[in-house]
Amino acid sequence: MERRTIVVTRRLPGVPWDDLAKRFRAGGPPGEGTMPREEFLARARGASGILCTLADRVDAELMDAAGLSLVVVSNFAVGVDNVDVAGATRRGIRVCNTPDVLTDATADLGFVLLLSAARKVSDADRFVRAGGWTGWDPWGLLGVPVAGKTLGIVGMGKIGAGVARRSRGFSMKVLYHNRRRVPPSEEAGLAASYRDLDALLAESDFVVLCVPLTPETRGLISAERLGRMKRTAVLVNIARGEVVDEEAVATALAEGRLFGAGLDVYEKEPRVHPKLLASPSAVLLPHLGSATGETREAMGRLATENLLAALDGREPPCPVN
Ligand code: DGY
Repeated sequence: MERRTIVVTRRLPGVPWDDLAKRFRAGGPPGEGTMPREEFLARARGASGILCTLADRVDAELMDAAGLSLVVVSNFAVGVDNVDVAGATRRGIRVCNTPDVLTDATADLGFVLLLSAARKVSDADRFVRAGGWTGWDPWGLLGVPVAGKTLGIVGMGKIGAGVARRSRGFSMKVLYHNRRRVPPSEEAGLAASYRDLDALLAESDFVVLCVPLTPETRGLISAERLGRMKRTAVLVNIARGEVVDEEAVATALAEGRLFGAGLDVYEKEPRVHPKLLASPSAVLLPHLGSATGETREAMGRLATENLLAALDGREPPCPVN
């Protein structure tokens, strides 16, 4: 066994804990839940590698606790907003993530939310279970149509492109906004037209958020921007909760200024805004974007490969810095 220490913050699919523990000093087997902060800080002391999830904050305090031995932070997620990447870069620490393997699962979930919010699937399901259904009703639980409508994708990365491709089956017109316009050949391949954000919000029947959380995207969908959307529109968030003003979404739903919202992510997970919990027009999922067994196994394999490559002095498959 090597003298180097690693920290795996919880039991994770696709991460071969036993093999890792044979090679590195790794403390006891990882637990089932998020590692408490105090334990994370204590275990990070003198560690060379950290394999963590988006629920673990890797900030200056944590990296200071780890000290000079820390070589790599391998995040079991594509988003790295839980990691102070700039701080890690200054300290010469490699940060890695798990892109690509979760693109399809996350784009699928974007469409699940879009369709569910459009057709009031959660509300209807609750209605049936509560025994409220007394017979076919020509007026009950009316949704908005999807086919042929305009889809606005905010963030045309891999997941955004996956959402665009899925929309073909529904003959949707696709608009997108991205910090950089994508090359014309890609636009043509996705049959997507660029719009500035305000124009996209005003024209779209469905808006799907696929941006990473950065200082530029935090609070992007503000009350004012929500006000530009159609009253019949649906907002879907498969990005990060902090991209959206949740209170403003809940208020817009309550006041009938937005038809529906399909949310997988929240400003203060796992807390969900009480007004959203009370809204029949919100479809609420517990951050399930990448949640298929195959995808999570693939994320674990990739996160492990990132960790080992960096510790072995090789180029990791998915470096962020
Ligand atoms: C990610 O990977 O960033 C998702 O939010 C969780 O899989």
